[in-house]
Amino acid sequence: MDLQGKRVVVLGGSSGMGLATAQAVVHQGGHVVIASRSEEKLKKAQEQIRKNVEIITLDVTNEHDMENFFQKIGKFDHLVSTAAGGPTGNFLDLPIQDAKKTFAAKYWGQYFAAKYGAPFIKDGGSITFCTGVLARKPAKGFSILSTINGGIEALARALAVELSPIRVNVVSPGIVDTPLYDKMSSEEREDYFVSIANQVPVKRVGKPEDVAEAFLYLMTNSFTTGTTLHVDGGYSLV
Ligand SMILES: NC(=O)c1ccc[n+]([C@@H]2O[C@H](COP(=O)([O-])OP(=O)(O)OC[C@H]3O[C@@H](n4cnc5c(N)ncnc54)[C@H](OP(=O)(O)O)[C@@H]3O)[C@@H](O)[C@H]2O)c1
Repeated sequence: MDLQGKRVVVLGGSSGMGLATAQAVVHQGGHVVIASRSEEKLKKAQEQIRKNVEIITLDVTNEHDMENFFQKIGKFDHLVSTAAGGPTGNFLDLPIQDAKKTFAAKYWGQYFAAKYGAPFIKDGGSITFCTGVLARKPAKGFSILSTINGGIEALARALAVELSPIRVNVVSPGIVDTPLYDKMSSEEREDYFVSIANQVPVKRVGKPEDVAEAFLYLMTNSFTTGTTLHVDGGYSLV
């Protein structure tokens, strides 16, 4: 997985799986541009990554800012998008405005990234989106994420054809221990992770590094496109 001298853009690279991916890219000799909304998180991530890292504040829901972002950074090799967030809730209760906020970040954010980023991707480059196990394994209260994830997986297959020879793939994580769960109390988090670990075939929740390996594989394997790589410990099977 040689990324020597490659320039990789990671939207959502200030935390969790995006940060682990940025660290892994630099470890393999690449340079990263990481972007997210919080300058504080970006600076902390920059300290952790230590070298070959540029930080840029960006809200992926803002189409105009996304277009400017890619014009500003210029040519690069690989695009990774893990930025997401927004409300979830039971289908009949979740206000449409809230559903649209979640769509704005995880669906439209990735759509804008591909649309405005693709023209700057060098020969041999790739786009890797991030979805999640909810596309295949629904759970009550998360229909909006099932919808978005399924839509992004379909978008990736379509773009693998339309943006060829740029390769377009998806990483679909299962339950992974990241700051996404910081809203839970430590007890709630522990209980949730233990209950998931008991259910999944690999008997543990994921680490951000597990998912980073998948992003690196999809960036560097030049024969893989239009694929969704499930890195979920088998959760979608049970
Ligand atoms: N963790 C899991 O169990 C799990 C399971 C399945 C799927 N996923 C998916 O995996 C991806 C990564 O999640 P994670 O667990 O690594 O989460 P995380 O640690 O919370 O990281 C999310 C990143 O996205 C950025 N972000 C959020 N909204 C943004 C916006 N509007 N514009 C720009 N950046 C934004 C955040 O930074 P700022 O706050 O600075 O903007 C942060 O860097 C997401 O797509 C998530 O849905 C996670």
